[in-house]
Amino acid sequence: MSEKNLATAVDKRRTFAIISHPDAGKTTITEQLLLFGGVVREAGTVKARKSGNFAKSDWMEIEQKRGISVTSSVMQFDYQGKRINILDTPGHEDFSEDTYRTLMAVDSAVMVIDSAKGIEPQTKKLFQICKMRGIPIFTFMNKLDRDGRDPLDLIAELEDVLGIEGYPMNWPIGMGKELKGLYDRYHQRVALFHKDDQGRQYLPLNADGDLAEANDLESDSWYTEARDNMQMIEEAGNPFDAAKIASGDQTPVFFGSALANFGVQTFLDTYLEYAPQPADHHTESGEDVAPTDPEFSGFVFKIQANMNPHHRDRIAFVRICSGEFDRGMDVIQERTGKKLRLSNVTEFMADTRENVETAVAGDIIGLYDTGNFQIGDAIYTGKRDIKFEKLPQFTPELFVRVSAKNVMKQKSFHKGINQLVQEGAVQLYTSYSTGDYILGAVGQLQFEVFQFRMQNEYNSEVVMEPMGKKTARWIDPDQLDERMSSSRNLLVKDSQGNPLFLFENQFAERWFKDKYPDVTLTAKL
Ligand code: G4P
Repeated sequence: MSEKNLATAVDKRRTFAIISHPDAGKTTITEQLLLFGGVVREAGTVKARKSGNFAKSDWMEIEQKRGISVTSSVMQFDYQGKRINILDTPGHEDFSEDTYRTLMAVDSAVMVIDSAKGIEPQTKKLFQICKMRGIPIFTFMNKLDRDGRDPLDLIAELEDVLGIEGYPMNWPIGMGKELKGLYDRYHQRVALFHKDDQGRQYLPLNADGDLAEANDLESDSWYTEARDNMQMIEEAGNPFDAAKIASGDQTPVFFGSALANFGVQTFLDTYLEYAPQPADHHTESGEDVAPTDPEFSGFVFKIQANMNPHHRDRIAFVRICSGEFDRGMDVIQERTGKKLRLSNVTEFMADTRENVETAVAGDIIGLYDTGNFQIGDAIYTGKRDIKFEKLPQFTPELFVRVSAKNVMKQKSFHKGINQLVQEGAVQLYTSYSTGDYILGAVGQLQFEVFQFRMQNEYNSEVVMEPMGKKTARWIDPDQLDERMSSSRNLLVKDSQGNPLFLFENQFAERWFKDKYPDVTLTAKL
């Protein structure tokens, strides 16, 4: 591909994730987007897969049980001249560090909020990663066909809870049973919800923000309230600021209903006007890698294990940062300096898993892996030695004590644990006082996958004793006194040997801070 063609291809890419709390409507909205992209012909395809009806026979048992599939991890389709990659961020019990790491591979995020509930815990956690990366975030306030909270409250909450300015692009006219439409200030029109006349989905607004043509809606109190609110926000709210949107300091907010397919396409169209194309990637040397750099580079952000137990293969998900991927190309793996041939590669679509011929910066490729890759690995062509900035570690919240069931099999137990920890499947801690192994994760699934893989790949049966939720806080080794440890704040070491406490709850942490006011405790991401 010529440099010009590469630049054109990269320019078309829009790679994003949808972040939300379970049940806010992520699956429903994804489904709508796939319909617009012509990938699925009817709603319900992704849903069926989510509920497990779509299970394929050869996937890992846990995945089958939960209906997680590799094909829905990345969904790619073309829409209005753009090539869209949606990366899935699993929630519920499938929440894991991979969910967080996926956000390291996107250029923007869509935040779906249930308008009856507002900001919920999982949304908040995922939002913080996006905020840390400074990527644009677009908000969809969903379920407008149900009675929800006051829209003004929902906008204020963005600022109060998340610290991001909300810029409403439209405003609900009524809600629930009274939903009449959307006052769309951005497009200067009213979108009607109950469209009795198919040809009249939209009513244009004039320069004063009033209906351009006489309509019954003018005397409707829901309409006048929406118009007044919008005008008030126009005067007193945050001004639209494209630079703030680009840096993730302002989020355009769209109201709508994913289930009723109301406001979703307008959302997608407007989103695509502002969503960024693939960005530069920072390296440890401080030099940025531009997506249009003709040399190929990428990094592994997720490893999905044992898609097929008969072959014990895994898929390493690579975000392409620069250049073009070609089947069979040779790349250097930065960590080992080894040359690898990328021949067995998979592309992701919503419906099919097809082999990818070419992919460019912004795209995701899946490499069949027999154990060569680790999370965070950089691969590249060319003479430069590319070391991308390290992926952050995320503070685990769930902990288990782990030991080998058969004490005679310590060797395979240690080998398995070390490999899986290196790979980023779970985090390992060691108790100061007893030397016990403690595993940390952000979601229960990580422990289940760990146990399954220890047995299947390392022939090591493990015993896991749940310790429940804990708050992990690191302490400066110079300030540490081992006598500070107690049953309510267990002293452990992380895999690099740094000391930290696992606090039983917030009270235990507060008590500790009162007792040792000079000690600084830090949380990681
Ligand atoms: P998730 O992926 O974020 O977990 O949410 P999902 O799309 O599965 O939606 C969760 C529930 O909310 C589903 O109902 C879905 O139909 C409903 N829902 C999504 N968007 C809207 C909306 O705009 N309006 C209304 N009223 N409901 C919406 P469910 O009963 O759990 O599942 P199902 O029986 O519909 O499959």
